[in-house]
Amino acid sequence: MTKKRILVTGGAAGIGFAIARRFVEEGAQVLTCDVNAAGLEQALAQVPGLKGVPCDVADTPQIDTLFEALERELDGLDVLVNNVGIGGPTKPAEELTGAEWRQVLDINLTGTFEVTRRAIPHLKRSAGTIINMSSAAGRYGYPNRIAYSTTKWGLIGFTKTLSMELGVHDITVNAILPGAVGGERFDRVIAGRAQVSGRSLEDEIALGLATQSVKRIVPPQHIADLAVFLTTPAGRSFSGAALPMDNDLQHG
Ligand SMILES: NC(=O)c1ccc[n+]([C@@H]2O[C@H](COP(=O)([O-])OP(=O)(O)OC[C@H]3O[C@@H](n4cnc5c(N)ncnc54)[C@H](O)[C@@H]3O)[C@@H](O)[C@H]2O)c1
Repeated sequence: MTKKRILVTGGAAGIGFAIARRFVEEGAQVLTCDVNAAGLEQALAQVPGLKGVPCDVADTPQIDTLFEALERELDGLDVLVNNVGIGGPTKPAEELTGAEWRQVLDINLTGTFEVTRRAIPHLKRSAGTIINMSSAAGRYGYPNRIAYSTTKWGLIGFTKTLSMELGVHDITVNAILPGAVGGERFDRVIAGRAQVSGRSLEDEIALGLATQSVKRIVPPQHIADLAVFLTTPAGRSFSGAALPMDNDLQHG
């Protein structure tokens, strides 16, 4: 792993931070970016060796700046982890405004595309790996989160299409579909659901776990372990796969 060069988007917090830290622990050279500059500074302070630049993936000039940093800091790329994703508001479709809908699509889909298309020339040279962070919301419907679910299904088509286009260059492309992952975001999601339903937070957590065969919330470190595995020789025998890591979620 010591020679591997990794870009993880949205690495200041949550799953992206766990993935960036895990790759650093493996000895890789890791660059991350995040729209939250203060959060990014804190993340870099916690993980010696981790490099980072502020970047909003919905703003293409900022992505150009990110790739200038990538060429300077990493001099190429072996692994792209498209982790950034926002949930958007929790409300029924008819109440969602066009601006709210577009913001989720701009970040989750267009941002991912704009980062990926700049990464592909580098990945062709390295026979690299792309990992896209979808969600259980990309396997099932997700009432009151229509924009989020639409983008996470979109990332499955994005993954399968890129896998077919890029396989000839020995580039592998897979999607990870987490279910309930512990951390601050999980707490926010539960709070949003409770606000809409009027139920208590405890009841919302129990309701969430009721649809899982295994009654455990997945820690972000396990998602990071899967991401690292997908870059190993065995992991690179997967491509075009949509890999749920959700303790067997039966329906959303
Ligand atoms: N946590 C879960 O339970 C869960 C479940 C399924 C899928 N996911 C997916 O995993 C990914 C990470 O989720 P998380 O829970 O760690 O989220 P999070 O909100 O904890 O972290 C996301 C990071 O991305 C950054 N970010 C947001 N918008 C950005 C933008 N426009 N440009 C650059 N950075 C931006 C945030 O500042 C934050 O640091 C997302 O794609 C999410 O949809 C999470």
